[in-house]
Amino acid sequence: MTYKKVGVIGAGVMGTGVAQNLAQKGIEVVLVDVSEAVLPKARETIFNSLRFAGMMRRDDAPAADPEQTLGLIEFTTDYERLGDVDFVVENVVEKLAVKAEVYPRLDAICPADCIFAANTSCISITKLGGYTRRPERVCGMHFMNPVPLKNMVELIRGHHTTDETVERGKAFLKQMGKDAVVVNDMPGFVSNRVLMLTVNEAIWLVQDGVASAADVDKIFRSCFGHKMGPLETGDLIGLDTILYSLDELYAAYGDPKFRRAPLLQKMVDAGLHGRKSGEGFYKYAV
Ligand code: NAI
Repeated sequence: MTYKKVGVIGAGVMGTGVAQNLAQKGIEVVLVDVSEAVLPKARETIFNSLRFAGMMRRDDAPAADPEQTLGLIEFTTDYERLGDVDFVVENVVEKLAVKAEVYPRLDAICPADCIFAANTSCISITKLGGYTRRPERVCGMHFMNPVPLKNMVELIRGHHTTDETVERGKAFLKQMGKDAVVVNDMPGFVSNRVLMLTVNEAIWLVQDGVASAADVDKIFRSCFGHKMGPLETGDLIGLDTILYSLDELYAAYGDPKFRRAPLLQKMVDAGLHGRKSGEGFYKYAV
């Protein structure tokens, strides 16, 4: 099956990346957010990213026109526009209470055979599937950030997810130019059950005065050969998303190892959300 029209829910860091990637592959997108204010910013982010991608091309083929690619994306706050999509990727904020309201809405509006892929850092796919009448057609797709540049996705099989859904999910990702590692459902899956602990513990280190953020990151880059340190990674993901993810993991496992560092809470309260807000552990031009 070739996917022609895809619903992308949430126009933040991940939703804009997914929408851009799909449009670059010639797929129509309905990009839905609850906030009118977010949509012009999402449009601008995608436009700038498309222009940058055009400048960075290494082959001689003519670069795609950013306006033409952008023309494949409808920016809207109206969920009713999702009535004829073939596939949905949900990327709303990492809070179970918010996602729990989105799935029944999608279930009521989208065609019966449409698959819902949850792009979540930590929340159980089985739980999200339970908010629909089609849990067999719900899977997890943990995309990496920035989506257009990262070609591997963690594809998560919920308790009721069928083999057919997994295969259709793989085909969808292939159309986006991506491969998948298929894993079973448990909160945090593989990547974030490990990564969230690492980022959180690195924040405790800074809070305890053991080392500066720059030195923590330097140790991971220089000693272990990581491309980015844990605090740079936290800034890239978004410190608010790290906080919500840790809270979801703590709630899901009831294990104190997922307790968030108070410094993380303080930074999020202060609006220091990382790259997307212009400041986290480091400063960025926005
Ligand atoms: P974000 O905070 O940048 O964007 C979330 C967007 O969802 C906001 O624009 C918000 O207005 C919108 N939203 C909230 N409620 C909504 C609703 N009911 N309907 C439609 N839109 C709604 O968050 P980000 O970083 O894009 O994360 C989205 C999801 O992707 C989260 O579940 C996160 O855990 C996951 N994720 C994030 C990664 C990252 O590196 N930031 C990586 C992989 C997954």
